[in-house]
Amino acid sequence: MNIIEIRDLWKSFGDHTVFQGVSFDVPEGQTTAIIGPSGSGKSVLLKHMVGLLAPDRGALRVFGVDVVQADEAALYAIRRRMGMLFQAGALFDSMTVGENVAFPLVHHAPGLSPQARREKVLEKLDLVGMPDFCDRMPASLSGGQLKRVGLARAIVMEPEIVLFDEPNSGLDPLTSDAIDELICDMKAKLGITFVVISHDIVGTVAVADHIAMLYGGALVAFGPTAQVLRSPVPIVRRFLQRNLILPEADGMPARLPTPAL
Ligand SMILES: Nc1ncnc2c1ncn2[C@@H]1O[C@H](COP(=O)(O)OP(=O)(O)OP(=O)(O)O)[C@@H](O)[C@H]1O
Ligand SMILES: [Mg+2]
Repeated sequence: MNIIEIRDLWKSFGDHTVFQGVSFDVPEGQTTAIIGPSGSGKSVLLKHMVGLLAPDRGALRVFGVDVVQADEAALYAIRRRMGMLFQAGALFDSMTVGENVAFPLVHHAPGLSPQARREKVLEKLDLVGMPDFCDRMPASLSGGQLKRVGLARAIVMEPEIVLFDEPNSGLDPLTSDAIDELICDMKAKLGITFVVISHDIVGTVAVADHIAMLYGGALVAFGPTAQVLRSPVPIVRRFLQRNLILPEADGMPARLPTPAL
């Protein structure tokens, strides 16, 4: 099943066009990576998925619900089922790690007792490998530790989808690998569907079941990772080749297939 469906998305900011008819699906229970050069619209696409930005044209369905047409109540219900880590998503400095992780619960599940809330927070911190950090302040944490806490906060509501903008940015290769492993673990253990945006191509290939590549307002590659690695499209190969030794390309397709709704 496809948990997110994007159809013929068009978006401009003033006279700057970001998308000119982008269509693809995010399969449930798998990890889909969105790649592409800086400014190609990766973060903008993620914001469309949670209804923070509206397209000029096109349809976007999450859990089968049209988020473009959805009213505030319907959007709220969808967002409760999604965890988000934005590119610039920092923790609140004045709160402890535990308070940061508890934040979505305080707002979305106010009926929960403080004890039940604390249990959930400790459970999620344990899941990301940070069991003893509940009472620490964010300022005393490393970049990799902050990413882990951010992930704990994103999953505290037990979402079905997690959108993760740049899980690896600013991390050394080993810490970056550890975050990638965490994503794979959560997909396997919790059945979470991940949509990740990454500039780390090697890491992306390791975590992603599917890859979507944006370039020049269009989707220039989409499919299972192994298939995208064999893409004959020159810009896709150039983008990937900088970091990877690619298998031989497939024959050039007439055009990218667009699945029907
Ligand atoms: N709110 C906005 N208003 C106007 N322009 C915007 C807005 N948000 C994004 N843009 C523009 O849309 C384009 C795509 O931005 P986006 O942040 O999605 O890029 P990106 O692919 O995530 O890049 P990066 O890899 O550097 O994070 C950019 O040209 C950006 O300047
Ligand atoms: Mg971005």
